[in-house]
Amino acid sequence: MLDLVEAVAARREASDPDAATVLRGLSAPQKSLPSHLFYDARGSALFEEITRLEEYYPTRVETAILDEAAPQIAGRTPQGAVLVEYGSGSSRKTEILLERLPQLAAYAPIDVSRSALEEAKARLARRFPSLRVEPTLGDFAAPLRLPADLAIRPRLGFFPGSTIGNFTTPEARDLLGRMAAGLGAGARLVIGADLLKDPSILIPAYDDAQGVTAAFNLNMLERINREFDADFDRSRFRHEARFNEAEGRVEMHLVSLRTQRVAVLGRMFSFTAGETIHTENSAKYSMRGFHRLAASAGWTPKRTWIDRAGLFSVHELAAEVQDFAAGGRVER
Ligand code: AVJ
Repeated sequence: MLDLVEAVAARREASDPDAATVLRGLSAPQKSLPSHLFYDARGSALFEEITRLEEYYPTRVETAILDEAAPQIAGRTPQGAVLVEYGSGSSRKTEILLERLPQLAAYAPIDVSRSALEEAKARLARRFPSLRVEPTLGDFAAPLRLPADLAIRPRLGFFPGSTIGNFTTPEARDLLGRMAAGLGAGARLVIGADLLKDPSILIPAYDDAQGVTAAFNLNMLERINREFDADFDRSRFRHEARFNEAEGRVEMHLVSLRTQRVAVLGRMFSFTAGETIHTENSAKYSMRGFHRLAASAGWTPKRTWIDRAGLFSVHELAAEVQDFAAGGRVER
């Protein structure tokens, strides 16, 4: 019987990368679960609620920055370009760009949430009836695949929300490098990066008074129960937001309230009281630090916008055109 359970777990682990990541994450000394698993239908709806919270300044501030920056971004976007958005969610901020970009051939949103993509597509069809929308359901870190007739067009990438902060520095560099490769030489990327600031502002943004962020974090356990045959009792965990000063990031954890054992895909995982599952990193940047990160992945910063209070930054980056004549190491 046990062997059968183990065989089922092993097969799922081999065929489903998320299952392997979940089992590996829960087996490590610091347990972790991947943050992209937040975004099932309920999690995507809770995240939309977070973006409307008083304490969660990033959405409000970035939206205001984009309102100002959009005409300039539009002015540099060529006729017939494709707008590719990584982790598009509700596509609300995208509307600010779309309003200014009648020259687009298409909008290509990529997201892991089917419900979010469908709702966005329906809303955009009403608001921009002549806009061609080509959604991709899946992980935005996967290689970019556009319909053949769009593949030759110039690209503008859009990666708002400081979602880049969910990745560690090496992962972020790798992801930005892949975006440069996928979008192609000469492409531009408009990307949001949350700025380093006092924890007295950062912590409430990730631990709001109404408990919406707590519900968002705990919802991950319900998803694991449903999709990975697990028996987490969410009332035995609590939400915690921490500022990791050394790494310059906010972390979300789920803290075990007692000693307990939890089954996931037929494997047992033990928790001591106070032990945590690390569910998210949200890196915060200095302007120079972000420029350095971008440059290390082949992007040249062209323009940076920051709000007056210095809370959030939006950057327009250019993918370096490979100039083999100039770049070749010719020795004389
Ligand atoms: C969508 C990844 C940018 O890190 O601020 C919000 C997600 N997590 N509250 C962020 C989130 C907790 C958000 N990102």
